[in-house]
Order: sequence, then structure tokens, then C-alpha cells
Amino acid sequence: MQVLNFGSLNVDYVYRVAHMMRPGETQQSYGMEIFAGGKGMNQSIAAARAGAQIYHAGMVGKDDGQFLLDICRENHVNTDFIRVIDGKSGHTIIQVDDNAQNCILLYGGSNRRFTKEYVDEVLAKFGADDFLILQNETNLLDYIIDRAYEKGMKIILNPSPFDEGLNSCDLSKVSVFLVNEIEGRQLAGAAFETEEDGNRLVDAILKVYPKAQVVLTMGDKGAFYGGGEKRHYQPCFQVKAVDTTAAGDTFTGYFVFGLLNGYEIEKSLELAAKAASIAVSRSGAVPSIPVMEEVAGKNE
Ligand code: RIB
Repeated sequence: MQVLNFGSLNVDYVYRVAHMMRPGETQQSYGMEIFAGGKGMNQSIAAARAGAQIYHAGMVGKDDGQFLLDICRENHVNTDFIRVIDGKSGHTIIQVDDNAQNCILLYGGSNRRFTKEYVDEVLAKFGADDFLILQNETNLLDYIIDRAYEKGMKIILNPSPFDEGLNSCDLSKVSVFLVNEIEGRQLAGAAFETEEDGNRLVDAILKVYPKAQVVLTMGDKGAFYGGGEKRHYQPCFQVKAVDTTAAGDTFTGYFVFGLLNGYEIEKSLELAAKAASIAVSRSGAVPSIPVMEEVAGKNE
């Protein structure tokens, strides 16, 4: 069984701010750092740091591509399918405020230049029962889902950011959804605009996608799992938050590692929650993602 992540790779320009920018405002930031990121890359690196062997497919520009490729390789993510193309890589401008919350402005760049030929070429190397991890920062997500489903791949989707690009996707082909509260409400439909109960939200998503497994992460309210008749609640590990960027991606990478290794859902969720709690206690996307030794050693 092989694991492929067909996803974004970004350079994150991270600014520390006292508060999130308001329209018309000029604000002095008090810190600036540049990190590797992108939901796809973060999730691949989290899975690899957990111990998984993972292929990442995606596109980087000639500008920052080498920086992103080097970090994937240093972390033992297989980069054979990553293509370097002319033009700009994906990048973000991220504000992180004094409460460790973030605000992300995304420029898709090379992440949005996939072609059907490229997708077909990559997927030709994978087949039935292989795992495919996806997010919504690339173009052709609908096409990737359709082709992977035809091949019998198990599709794991983190539908983030939740935007109109998802309307053209046949989400009934997804085996596992990993969502936050906002994405969960969108999947469940308008009836859940004000719902705050994680279990009820999971039930509502499963009503729309009854064959899927659903993992709903709700920050310090913990994570809720549903699949078939099974339900499980995983409390969050409390830490002093410094930067929440990539916490969800870290959770995803570690949860997928558990799935790949046939762990019980309870164990996968606990590992993922521990890993995410470590990630929020550090700055940046990729640099905040812990290795398995740290996660295994965390007891509270
Ligand atoms: O989920 C965090 C990631 O979202 C950041 O690394 C940024 O690149 C954006 O894609």
C-alpha cells in the first residue's frame, strides 16, 4: 500500500501583529519570518515525521521551488512527482496576533497550474487500495478525485479552504473527511449554521455522506469522530498557544499515519491531538510539526 499526497506547497511570509489588520489601516508588525508551508506540504511532512513513507505530488515555481523541495527531502518526503515549472510558487501572507490566531492570504501560483496530463501521469503509478490525501489549495481537485476513485484509491480530503472550487467535486467519492467547525458546517448544509455541538455536527455530515468517516476538529473543544455506528470524542491537550498555523495539518498527518498502520481510531486520534498541541506551542508551519519521539513522549 502506497500513500500519495497531491497537494500545495507554499512559502509562508509570517508577520506578528498586535491585532488583525482592519480595512484602511497601516500597522507596524513586530516580527517577520519566512517558513515553508502549504496545507499539502505540512500534511506530508507531518505524516513523514510520524514515520510514514509518503509521496508528495505538486508543482513549485523556479523562484522558491528549490527551498521547498529541499525541505521535503530533508524530511524524507518522496519528491519524485513534484514538478518545477516557470513562474511563481504558491505563497501566503500570514498575520499572527497576540492570541496566537492567524489570518492567511493565499496566492496559489504554481499550485493552481496542474494539468490533466500531469494528474494522469502521477496517478498512473498508484492503484487500488493506495491512499490519496487532498486539500483544496490546488486546481483540478474534481478531476483528481474522479480519476483516483476510478482506480479504487482511498481518498482522504481536508476541504480547506472551503470555497466554490469544491462545488464541482463529487464528495460522495471521499472515504475520510478531516474538517474544522466551519468546513463541517458547510459539508452538513445550511441547517448547521449555528450548531456548536460536535457530535451533532458529525451526525449531520454523515447524513449527507453516510459511507464516509468524519473527523471534526474544534480547537480547544477537542476532536469528534464518526463513521458507521462508531463515535468517539478526543479532548484537546492544553498548551500555551503561540501560533495555531498548521495545527490542523499536523493533526491530519498524524491521523493518516494511524490509519495507514491500522491503529484503532482512539489511538490515531490521541496521537493526532498530541501532535497538534505541540505544533500550536511553536511558531511557523513546517518548523512547528513534531517528530514521533516528541509526540510519543507527551503525556498530558
Ligand atoms: O494550514 C496552514 C497553511 O495554510 C499554511 O502553511 C499556509 O501556507 C496555508 O496554506
